[in-house]
Amino acid sequence: MNPVEIAEPLRSRWSPSVFDAAHVLTDTDITRLLEAAQWAPSSGNRQPWRYVVAPRGSAQHQALVPHLSRGNSGWVPRASVVFLSVVELGQDGVELSDVLIPAHDVGQASAHLTLQAQAMGLHAHQFGGFDHDGAAAALGIPDTARLLAGIAVGVRGNPAEVSERDAERDHRERHRRPLDETAYERWGVTWPGLAPSGPTVA
Ligand SMILES: Cc1cc2nc3c(=O)[nH]c(=O)nc-3n(C[C@H](O)[C@H](O)[C@H](O)COP(=O)(O)O)c2cc1C
Repeated sequence: MNPVEIAEPLRSRWSPSVFDAAHVLTDTDITRLLEAAQWAPSSGNRQPWRYVVAPRGSAQHQALVPHLSRGNSGWVPRASVVFLSVVELGQDGVELSDVLIPAHDVGQASAHLTLQAQAMGLHAHQFGGFDHDGAAAALGIPDTARLLAGIAVGVRGNPAEVSERDAERDHRERHRRPLDETAYERWGVTWPGLAPSGPTVA
């Protein structure tokens, strides 16, 4: 029996770390990516997602770059555009327990954006390694919203132009926990219907 397969563009999606620092995305393509996020489902259709759109070289891109972690500062700035996802918490903010569903919804919108990029022949690499408070202040994000993550989008570049570490990352094996440790019928008890699925390493 062949292993269960998933559909494109889910199957071919992965997160490269070598972007082409000369590639430019048109405003129309950037809009298409945002439109994909826009059509994600959300609790009560509240659409709590916001994105700061930072094409390479823009003022907002320059504001972000100094706040990137050391591990991300080599590869993120080379991408054609960075989207910074933000969860909007409303005028009065909300208690922590109320942040979970809006944050879930923003993550789902970002997944849509990421998969739309893959479907357009682009690559997306999400990242959380940056000084969130510093970047939020530099970008004017108010207390009623929280900066969550970045999504770097572009096309793959020449590994000779980046550090050995970043070039090597693109050849690492990708791992996943086996599905029987994810799908339960009761907590901790594997759902018995699982069919043989794809490899845990790609
Ligand atoms: C919220 C979030 C934060 C992440 N933060 C980083 C990061 O700071 N640096 C990085 O190189 N990758 C980051 N990643 C990418 C993950 O490491 C990557 O998705 C994971 O290793 C699985 O690899 P794949 O996307 O190629 O399947 C992040 C991904 C997500 C969703």
